[in-house]
Amino acid sequence: MRVEVKPDESYHLINHGPCNLITTGDGTRQNVAPINWTMPLNNDPPLMLTVIEEGIYTEELLNASEEFVINVVGEPLAPKVLACGRSHGKEIEKFKKIGLTPMPSKMVRPPFLRESLAHIECRLTARHPHEGVTIFVGRVLHAEVEQEYWNGKSLVVEKARTIHHLAGGVFAVTERTIQVPKPSLEH
Ligand SMILES: Cc1cc2nc3c(=O)[nH]c(=O)nc-3n(C[C@H](O)[C@H](O)[C@H](O)COP(=O)(O)O)c2cc1C
Repeated sequence: MRVEVKPDESYHLINHGPCNLITTGDGTRQNVAPINWTMPLNNDPPLMLTVIEEGIYTEELLNASEEFVINVVGEPLAPKVLACGRSHGKEIEKFKKIGLTPMPSKMVRPPFLRESLAHIECRLTARHPHEGVTIFVGRVLHAEVEQEYWNGKSLVVEKARTIHHLAGGVFAVTERTIQVPKPSLEH
């Protein structure tokens, strides 16, 4: 039996991409917030997109600097992720108050987080406004990962234990991978 999920709750069925912390900044001001709806858009050219609600400080700084950094985080940071998502950078200085360390990025003005496992530096190439949100598209200028979490092809997710937001502060954590054998489609 299947149960109906209301349209405005249906996103919870596919919500659990890695929950990243997006850092923004224009050289003077800087901020950090979890933006779950962040994903790759293309690999060549390397493009990322992030969906930002109208009116949050992250949006203001993104518009000001046209740059953002995607910080990949693991399980130990989950409480800080939630704290960043339940507060506004216009009201509190999140880095100090929540205990995150901004570090100078290589190619963009927003900092990356020392506590992250990896980070991706992006510069805006397009904005797509929709009702209540804007899709910001950025080109990847630089990316780095802590060596111990990279096997040369992908994130070592069992070790990285990335967090995947389900709903209401509940996260799934990556614990294992499976290698699927090549499918044989011949009869
Ligand atoms: C787990 C989690 C995921 C979130 N994902 C998004 C998102 O994808 N897009 C968005 O605009 N806000 C998202 N938010 C909400 C923002 O993080 C929240 O509005 C935050 O307070 C904004 O901070 P700022 O005003 O300092 O930018 C999320 C919050 C949490 C806790």
